[in-house]
Amino acid sequence: MEIKMNLTKSPKAKPDWNKLGFGKIFTDHMFVMDWNSEKGWYDARIEPFGNLSLHPAATVFHYGAEIFEGLKAYRRPDGEVQLFRPWENIKRLNNSAERLSLPQVDEAFTLDALKKFVALEKDWVPSLPGTSLYLRPFLFGNDETLGVHTIHNAKFLIIASPVGAYYAEGLNPVKIMIETEDVRAVRGGTGYTKCGGNYAASMRAGDRAAAEGYSQVLWLDGVERKYIEEVGAMNVMFLINDTVVTPKLTGSILPGITRKSCIELLKEMGCKVEERLLSVDELEKAMQDGTLKEAWGCGTAAVISPIGELRINGTSFTVADGGIGKLSQKLYDTLTDIQWGKAPDTHQWTCKVD
Ligand code: PLP
Ligand code: COI
Repeated sequence: MEIKMNLTKSPKAKPDWNKLGFGKIFTDHMFVMDWNSEKGWYDARIEPFGNLSLHPAATVFHYGAEIFEGLKAYRRPDGEVQLFRPWENIKRLNNSAERLSLPQVDEAFTLDALKKFVALEKDWVPSLPGTSLYLRPFLFGNDETLGVHTIHNAKFLIIASPVGAYYAEGLNPVKIMIETEDVRAVRGGTGYTKCGGNYAASMRAGDRAAAEGYSQVLWLDGVERKYIEEVGAMNVMFLINDTVVTPKLTGSILPGITRKSCIELLKEMGCKVEERLLSVDELEKAMQDGTLKEAWGCGTAAVISPIGELRINGTSFTVADGGIGKLSQKLYDTLTDIQWGKAPDTHQWTCKVD
């Protein structure tokens, strides 16, 4: 399918690269394509970034038929721009689509569209340390009727936002609270997908945590409320003695691409890594007896985010003396050197946009 180009006649002024924040500034263009059950995907185009006009009965507004992805374009030291494992995001988008009965995208076409779009917006890829161009592909049901039924119309877009650190803390440790009331997902549900509803259902707990000075909540499994799952926008890893323990993929947590990359990098560093169930009791005991050496979250937006304080059942524990643990720092450096093209890409994880 051809991608039609309709370029803006009034490009925006570039932002102050020192004050990007996360997801507040958007580039000049967006990629859009439409789908219906008869034609399949059609009318792929890059057009000026702007508001959408949607029917008030559109499925997405009523029944939450929406999925998204998050990946980044990085400015390499030689000035070129590269993506990190974008094919994994596209594959996961299709897994999410399958769960929500939304249409699948053609993976090769979507990768090509992503690269063309980023190449066009290249001047928006920042170069200051820790900054990147965050890419947000999303897909939603767009039927103009209130019946709950198979989707016949959908829309797929990619928007882009130059970003700095996701948390105001940057690489400094964040405070995380274990949530014991609300649950985010259950097996058989949508926990393993990136659907908007997962995030909508997590906001109440997030707000409560924020009111007490915590950055995000750490979710427990939805059935026994016993096992550690993930944080609002990242997977979690714990260094217990000399082993990195991370919750296994049971179907209720997101199979993070950063998680998968970290596991590989840690193993290459010679670390023992266990993907398994980790109960909150085991974690609490490890905090009490000092065998919990480090904890961090990992995700595209959050990169590697050390956890300096964990609260469980009203008791706060300091982790790694509230600082950045040695392994967290090493993992951050190793991963980000690959992402920003400062180290050789021996895994074939990156691809340039043109
Ligand atoms: N878990 C949740 C709930 C997330 O939103 C994210 C972010 O995408 C992650 C984990 C980490 O996934 P990834 O490393 O693919 O960005
Ligand atoms: C990402 O890391 O890409 C995410 O999607 C997290 C987010 C919800 C901001």
